[in-house]
Amino acid sequence: MENTRIVLAQRPQGEPTAADFRIESLPVPALAEGQVLVRHHFLSLDPYMRGRMSDQKSYAAPQPLDEVMIGGTVGVVEASKNAYFQAGDRVLGMGGWQEYAVVDASQRGVLQKLDARLPLSVYLGAVGMPGVTAWYGLTEIIAPVPGHTVAVSAATGAVGSVVGQLAKRRGARVVGIAGGPEKCAYATEVLGFDACLDHRALRSPKELGAALAAAAPSGIDGYFDNVGGGVLDAVMANANAFARIAVCGMIANYNGAPVPMANPQLILSSRLTLRGFIVSEHREAWPKALAELSQLAAEGQLAIRESVAQGIRSAPRAFIGMLRGENFGKQLVKLID
Ligand SMILES: NC(=O)c1ccc[n+]([C@@H]2O[C@H](COP(=O)([O-])OP(=O)(O)OC[C@H]3O[C@@H](n4cnc5c(N)ncnc54)[C@H](OP(=O)(O)O)[C@@H]3O)[C@@H](O)[C@H]2O)c1
Repeated sequence: MENTRIVLAQRPQGEPTAADFRIESLPVPALAEGQVLVRHHFLSLDPYMRGRMSDQKSYAAPQPLDEVMIGGTVGVVEASKNAYFQAGDRVLGMGGWQEYAVVDASQRGVLQKLDARLPLSVYLGAVGMPGVTAWYGLTEIIAPVPGHTVAVSAATGAVGSVVGQLAKRRGARVVGIAGGPEKCAYATEVLGFDACLDHRALRSPKELGAALAAAAPSGIDGYFDNVGGGVLDAVMANANAFARIAVCGMIANYNGAPVPMANPQLILSSRLTLRGFIVSEHREAWPKALAELSQLAAEGQLAIRESVAQGIRSAPRAFIGMLRGENFGKQLVKLID
């Protein structure tokens, strides 16, 4: 049996290109005691992977060259030499950009069994790491109360779509910021946000700031920042005194371009709290977050949208597209027909 996989061939300079990756096919090795063979059904593509491709100082070690690209996966156990896993188990792991993974499942937590309540792909999105990220930043940093106005960027993406839906459930007015009229229509009509602004049409922080002032007439009390750059500048200009900003992502500079903050003095004059966080460092929050998210998803109370690329070979192109905003919802790669 052959396993097709994608390795990082070289570190991208600026925007990644197909030449930064290499596709390889190798035989699937025989299982040793304690190991499990997982066939991946879906691979998750996430913006953090761009950071790992670089060897600059960060919160996590860089992706090694010539090794399988890191990534979250869901799949089904094909064969097992581990007493805890049986063929047919649905599992979540960090199998990476490949069709199969041989996992030493004796290490606790490397593979998690999934229940059958939800489709497998949902455990990589709204009821997985991106959903917990949304829950943590909203609940623990922004902590909205009824009547607050919460803004969120990359508003229709894996994280942003959950942020806004949870903020609505907590009684906030929600203003999304997304790229393009189609995404904005989805944010208001399907996700239930009160307003959505198109940052591709409102290109300068001044234009976006004026539109935000109209969409958030009482000012902004909480901002879930997924992008940084000019969008953050525009939100800061409309932030109320003591507003809280959950700094979740800064995708506007993931390809290395410097993105200075226009008016840092607002941090002082508006007494803002800006708090960065990395979801994997808050394991204590995961059970509570996943309990709420899985319940909402199972009851059909969470709108979930996915962009699905087909086949492992499509992963590099889909990843590059996601960094450009071509995804509409959680970006996945489907690895089975
Ligand atoms: N801190 C943590 O622990 C943690 C965990 C997970 C994710 N994150 C971060 O959360 C953010 C969202 O992740 P996700 O998985 O949900 O991705 P996503 O929102 O599904 O996809 C990325 C989106 O970013 C937007 N974007 C790209 N370049 C942009 C730019 N220059 N200006 C404004 N928007 C831009 C695009 O949406 P539009 O077309 O709408 O602009 C694109 O669709 C990322 O920054 C990611 O790194 C952080």
